[in-house]
Amino acid sequence: MTQQVTLNIDGALIRAAKGTSVLDAALDFGICIPHLCHVSNIEDIGSCRLCIVENIVNGRSKITTSCTLLVQDDMMILSNTDKIRRLRHNIAELLVSEAPNSRAMQDIALRCGVEETRYSFRNNDCILCGRCVRACTGEFGVKPLGFVGRGKDRRVEAPFNLRSKLCNECGRCIDLCPMVMPACDGPMETGKERLCGNCESKLSDTDLTLGYCVGCYFGEGIQCQRSPINV
Ligand code: FES
Repeated sequence: MTQQVTLNIDGALIRAAKGTSVLDAALDFGICIPHLCHVSNIEDIGSCRLCIVENIVNGRSKITTSCTLLVQDDMMILSNTDKIRRLRHNIAELLVSEAPNSRAMQDIALRCGVEETRYSFRNNDCILCGRCVRACTGEFGVKPLGFVGRGKDRRVEAPFNLRSKLCNECGRCIDLCPMVMPACDGPMETGKERLCGNCESKLSDTDLTLGYCVGCYFGEGIQCQRSPINV
């Protein structure tokens, strides 16, 4: 029988199976922690950092990604403090600056309270979330796609940039990509770094997260209307 643990997330006592991530435990309970690179039932790599939470250990707060943090007995997690919202706002600002043409990124940013960014728009086609890479490795155990390069040269490619024989054309990588929706046609020029606010993401349709949240207006794991919790 799977061993259960009890932890506290934002004041709620939650039972979860050992080995579950804090993000999954929160989402299963109906607490929305914003996330992007997480895909249910596939190992997380913590690349987007939107899912950060405060893990309180011996009275000290440690900021960590909840998708890579496994539940433990008596854990105390805070997902919606002023500090977290401030950091998450900055992360969303950076993400949308990389790809302001993506409706999903615009939607996530707006839901994290970003209306304009302090960073120049770069109009990249990929935000390196790794959802496509993990679709193959996590679900089929093959690697027709992978990360190559470092720093600003980091990108997703097939080995030797050739179509891999391991690809069975299932299209799962495309289903999971937040960049494939029709591009946003709002203003996204450098010097006018404002979000148009008209994009509606369908990202949650490709993810197996709950379609509702306790006290959440949007209910897509992106933004919650719960009142701030003081540490
Ligand atoms: S969802 Fe946890 S880091 Fe992206």
